Amino acid sequence: GRLVVLVSGTGSNLAALLAAHDDPAFGARVVGVVSDRPGIRALELAREAGVPTAVVSLQDFPDRTAWDEALTAAVAVFSPDLVVAAGFMKLVGAPFLARFGGRVLNTHPALLPSFPGAHGVRDALAYGVKVTGCSVILVDAGVDDGPIVAQVTVAVEDGDDEATLHERIKLVERGLLVDVVGRVARDGYTLDGRKVRLGG
Ligand code: GRF
Repeated sequence: GRLVVLVSGTGSNLAALLAAHDDPAFGARVVGVVSDRPGIRALELAREAGVPTAVVSLQDFPDRTAWDEALTAAVAVFSPDLVVAAGFMKLVGAPFLARFGGRVLNTHPALLPSFPGAHGVRDALAYGVKVTGCSVILVDAGVDDGPIVAQVTVAVEDGDDEATLHERIKLVERGLLVDVVGRVARDGYTLDGRKVRLGG
């Protein structure tokens, strides 16, 4: 299947997907990487791997809807079977979900429904949980509230700060994401009766 990955930062999840796509058994290839901002490591990773990129920055558009429509068009160029938001720090809107709804996965560094939003690691640490983790969900119109596809737990260690805990989660998260994307790419994925199909 054809994967498009949405990024906003370091791209460690993207790197894992790029490494996996070199394995023919993975069943999917990253055909495009789209970011909401320029000058990030994830875009360099894509270029180094010879994967086309696009940047759709909010400030280049008169309003949010125009940005969302531009993001939708930029992703549509690559004719994806599956879109993976991997460290993408924007909410996709109605135009995007109208086009790709049901085929967008997101990875979040906490055990949803706990600690949704942009600071899941910091919030879990501040709460004092002993176990956190990461979640792969189907993206819908809400904030990290789509159906849960897969989760893995990660222990919080004494002395952890946001950086050390997030790094430990990311080690596990990229493996979970590659596993889920591979399963969807090879055989679709039944979720509470909702089949995440390739090709819509
Ligand atoms: C990941 O933990 C993702 O879940 C969160 O931010 C991190 C992005 O990491 N939203 P990267 O850009 O894939 O390295």
